[in-house]
Amino acid sequence: MKKSIETSVVCRKADALEIRADVLFVGIFEKEPLDGLVQRVDRRLKGQISRLLELKDFKGKPQTTALLYSRGQLGAERVLLVGLGEKKKADPDVLRKAAALAASTAVDLKVSSLAAAVDWSDWADHTPQELAQAFAEGIHFGAYRYIEYRSPEPSEPPVSSLQAVLAEPDERRLRPLQQGMRIGDILGKAQNYARTIANRPANVMTPAALAAEAQKLARRTAGFRCTVLDEKKLAAEKMGGILAVGKGSANPPRLIVLRYSPPAASSKAAPLALIGKAITFDSGGVSLKPSEGLHDMKFDKSGGAAVLAVMAALAALKPRRVVYGIIPAAENLPSGTSYRPGDIVTTYSGRTVEIQNTDAEGRMLLCDAIAYAEKLGCNPIVDTATLTGACVVALGTKRAGLMGNDSGLLEAIEKASKKTGERVWRLPCDDEYVEAMKSQIADLKNVGGKWAGACTAAAFLSQFVGKARWAHLDIAGVGVWGAGEKDAPGSIGFGVRLLTTFAVSL
Ligand code: BES
Ligand code: ZN
Ligand code: ZN
Repeated sequence: MKKSIETSVVCRKADALEIRADVLFVGIFEKEPLDGLVQRVDRRLKGQISRLLELKDFKGKPQTTALLYSRGQLGAERVLLVGLGEKKKADPDVLRKAAALAASTAVDLKVSSLAAAVDWSDWADHTPQELAQAFAEGIHFGAYRYIEYRSPEPSEPPVSSLQAVLAEPDERRLRPLQQGMRIGDILGKAQNYARTIANRPANVMTPAALAAEAQKLARRTAGFRCTVLDEKKLAAEKMGGILAVGKGSANPPRLIVLRYSPPAASSKAAPLALIGKAITFDSGGVSLKPSEGLHDMKFDKSGGAAVLAVMAALAALKPRRVVYGIIPAAENLPSGTSYRPGDIVTTYSGRTVEIQNTDAEGRMLLCDAIAYAEKLGCNPIVDTATLTGACVVALGTKRAGLMGNDSGLLEAIEKASKKTGERVWRLPCDDEYVEAMKSQIADLKNVGGKWAGACTAAAFLSQFVGKARWAHLDIAGVGVWGAGEKDAPGSIGFGVRLLTTFAVSL
């Protein structure tokens, strides 16, 4: 029953006009005369591309396509024109998105091979290596479908696959292209892995099942260790925040701690901690959410899924620093054993929190995980979480909120974000916002006022950070709803490329 679309991406010395494939991907810039490769393809097709453009049936706008048939004039059966937008805006993210659309179209056409060629000179000062990486990431992203639980249609083979080949005529370029593709392949696969974990429903992906998944990853990877704190160990460690949130569910909570250590433990630098919120289902608890769209709250584990996938990518990329992947996992449900508004919870740090809304559960898990990471000696600490609806109101579905206590760290994350195309936007979370989180009967309360909910949530978290540099990504808007209209439904695995690139850059 476990199924996915097997995707592979390779680079080969070949002429794109001759290479055999079901589809040849040809990128077209807006308002540019045809030249280079596109012009050669156009000549073979007896001017079909120029005619399309003349008639304005296709203009090269981003996220648009046109399909042509080569009828023996090319090695490929079909030509898929994909709009690249204006040439002056050409960057790796444009190629990534175009490759994704091409791969997605190929999957919809139910074909299994796609060839592509890129005129590197069209892409300003971006190197073939970084472009090839983006291409590979895009192919993986676009070919992804969440089909684990779909019965095959009787007329089709049960598992489909897509092989993408980047044709490169110049031998000297093959090495850098292959290097870029190797990284793109690792990141693309990791991102799709996060999507699958996030897409799995809450009846399947319980906290214990997520922990088993992490243990499976650790077992098959050298240099990995996985420790799982079950409800008994959580109680022994006094992880009051995680326990409170998990109390209402028959699926008990877990704290998953993955540790990667580099082959040669050369650096004496403190370990990096990546923390991901994993609420396997967020009903809101006693402060129950409205039923509209509630099924989407299975995606409240997207941060945890991303961290798990980043660790899988790091296993292949082998950075030189110790990295902890810390995933607090729980299910937030209303029942006779749930935590309630009015409860006072003693967290792992010793700080007490007055619960005013059981739906503000993410911060209750994260505060324990952050304090735990700091106790392990981690610095910096970066968390990613579908934390607040307020962040969706503030930034919509295109950018994640970025907050933290150290401008150098935030800049490093922004730099990684520019490379990977997973966009972020800074929001404040300084002491002014902490005021809103002070309780009269405990050290803190778990909700602020009506305003700046993303900032007050982050300010709450900041209270559990000691000396470490810390950054927080609020991905509530970008995990699923950030998907372009043409993306496959479900999780987009936000943050996997970003956090992996950041971790490797340290
Ligand atoms: N998981 C939600 C945040 C969320 C909202 C994620 C929309 C994705 C889409 C979080 O646990 C939550 O419910 N937050 C509350 C906090 C409030 C009660 C202070 C919210 O944002 O409404
Ligand atoms: Zn909630
Ligand atoms: Zn939540």
